[in-house]
Amino acid sequence: MTIPEPGSGYAGPIAARAKINLYLHVTGRRDDGYHLLDSLFVRIDLADRIWWRPAHTDRLQVTGPFAAALSADAAGDNLVLKAVESVRCATGGTFCAEIVLEKNIPAAAGLGGGSADAAAMLKTFAAEFGGSIELDRLALALGADVPPCLVETPVLASGIGEILTPVPALPDFGVVLVNPGVPVSTPAVFRRRTGRFSEAMPWDGSPRDIASLVAALAQRRNDLEEPAWLEAPVIGRVLEALEAEPDLLLARMSGSGATCFGITEGPEKAQALAAAIAQRHPDWWTYGGAAVTVV
Ligand code: C5P
Repeated sequence: MTIPEPGSGYAGPIAARAKINLYLHVTGRRDDGYHLLDSLFVRIDLADRIWWRPAHTDRLQVTGPFAAALSADAAGDNLVLKAVESVRCATGGTFCAEIVLEKNIPAAAGLGGGSADAAAMLKTFAAEFGGSIELDRLALALGADVPPCLVETPVLASGIGEILTPVPALPDFGVVLVNPGVPVSTPAVFRRRTGRFSEAMPWDGSPRDIASLVAALAQRRNDLEEPAWLEAPVIGRVLEALEAEPDLLLARMSGSGATCFGITEGPEKAQALAAAIAQRHPDWWTYGGAAVTVV
């Protein structure tokens, strides 16, 4: 499968950007087992691309560097098709879509790839067919990470991920991503978390430069790092590799892992570091780019 040619009747490409969690505090647990979070989501310039056209039945074709990782999914389990189905049910519509998904974001990697795809489809189909449907509710039903992915700008997520508070502008910064190629199961990581819950630390400031951003982040952490190391010990080596880079301002794991990120002064430094780490660890996936701080 290749991407659709112009003039082939497909709309798109629609960009579904990856996210990183600049910090993630687990602040409690609900009776149904879901955890309460305090987390700062930021989108980055790495994106899946999606094309669609009207069809008689829903159909999904996946292409791109991470297509193989998704082929184990039954097509119906893919969040993209679930998003189309949920807008159809909410609107009482009968539309169907043929969709091409170019998977550039590693799956089960803490980068919200599937959630970003689902959020992009919800917004697209709601705009096309939806009228006034409650996108937030549909998003949460698809997964706790989907509501924050409805927002393109940096956003604080609390509750189980559904309470969203936009944050004041962040300074521009570069992002290096390193993934050791081990998929990590989010429920398994949450199950391994033990001990006291963290405090929520309200993000009330507006850091004027990268140094103040990094200082504010250094007071926070990702509470899922330790449980994720237990699940996939290679994550410790990824963090060590990032921390050994003198040009890196902060290294941390994203979401429930296994991808770890580093913050740099700008995208050029991030690209150089990604290339250097890839050379030393040819079996790891790396990416250098920028955070999306304004849209
Ligand atoms: O909502 P989603 O399907 O993305 O979550 C996957 C799993 O991760 C949940 O079934 C739950 O075990 C865990 N989870 C959690 N608390 C959250 C988000 C996810 O415990 N806030």
